[in-house]
Amino acid sequence: MNAGTASSEETSVHGQEAGNAPRHVAIIMDGNGRWAIKRGLPRVAGHRAGAEAVRKILKAAVRAGVEVLTLYAFSSENWRRSEEEVSDLKGLLGFYLERELDELDRQGVRLRLIGDHMAFGPQLVERLERAVERTAGNDRLTLVVALNYGAQSEIVSAARRLAAKAATGKLDPDAIDEAHLNAELATHGLPELDLLIRTSGEKRLSNFLLWQAAYAELLFIDTLWPDFDEAAFGAALAEFGGRQRRFGGR
Ligand code: FPP
Repeated sequence: MNAGTASSEETSVHGQEAGNAPRHVAIIMDGNGRWAIKRGLPRVAGHRAGAEAVRKILKAAVRAGVEVLTLYAFSSENWRRSEEEVSDLKGLLGFYLERELDELDRQGVRLRLIGDHMAFGPQLVERLERAVERTAGNDRLTLVVALNYGAQSEIVSAARRLAAKAATGKLDPDAIDEAHLNAELATHGLPELDLLIRTSGEKRLSNFLLWQAAYAELLFIDTLWPDFDEAAFGAALAEFGGRQRRFGGR
């Protein structure tokens, strides 16, 4: 269905019409390891190539007018990987930040973090926080990087904060609704998630944005993350544009 032919029934209660471009896109960047193994390379080579794909897709998202791009860079379960791989991923993140910060700033990208990034050690934490501060005034695109993030723990923390408010009498438990919980999530204030992409053929959410994905369109793509390029991103946006979003309505 094209935007021009969308009927009034297809205009959702969320104020979006079929055929619209997504405002908020999230990506589970999967397949770096397989990409490397296929080439007889160490896994870190796949992550390096994955970081290059991040650079390309970020540019493509800015060009496409996407407002928020949320990337799953390190899950709370990724600590189970070998010490060497965790250290490689941390090193790569620091290197990417150092190398790309000027460019991010120039492109009008604001960096925001979700998850418990404090676990990454003082040097990387400092670099991350400096990047967040430096880009705080930018408004072309918000790049949300999920680091040491897990959705269930995010929801538990939100519930805990609401419970604390209720316990001190600041909040009536019967008045708690979706908006209250939403406001306590790490993603508070961002536009609703429209499109969630996972690369590499896996069809799972893996504890990523479980609450936020309630009405998102899900797109599972076979391409391994390092091979996910601007054309693939464009095709994903086109697929989103062609879907009819109902939000539980008709
Ligand atoms: C999944 O591939 C990918 C990750 C766990 C890390 C994602 C990190 C990057 C793309 C690089 C750095 C990020 C930024 C934001 C600069 P996998 O290793 O699970 O692949 P596999 O399933 O094929 O083993």
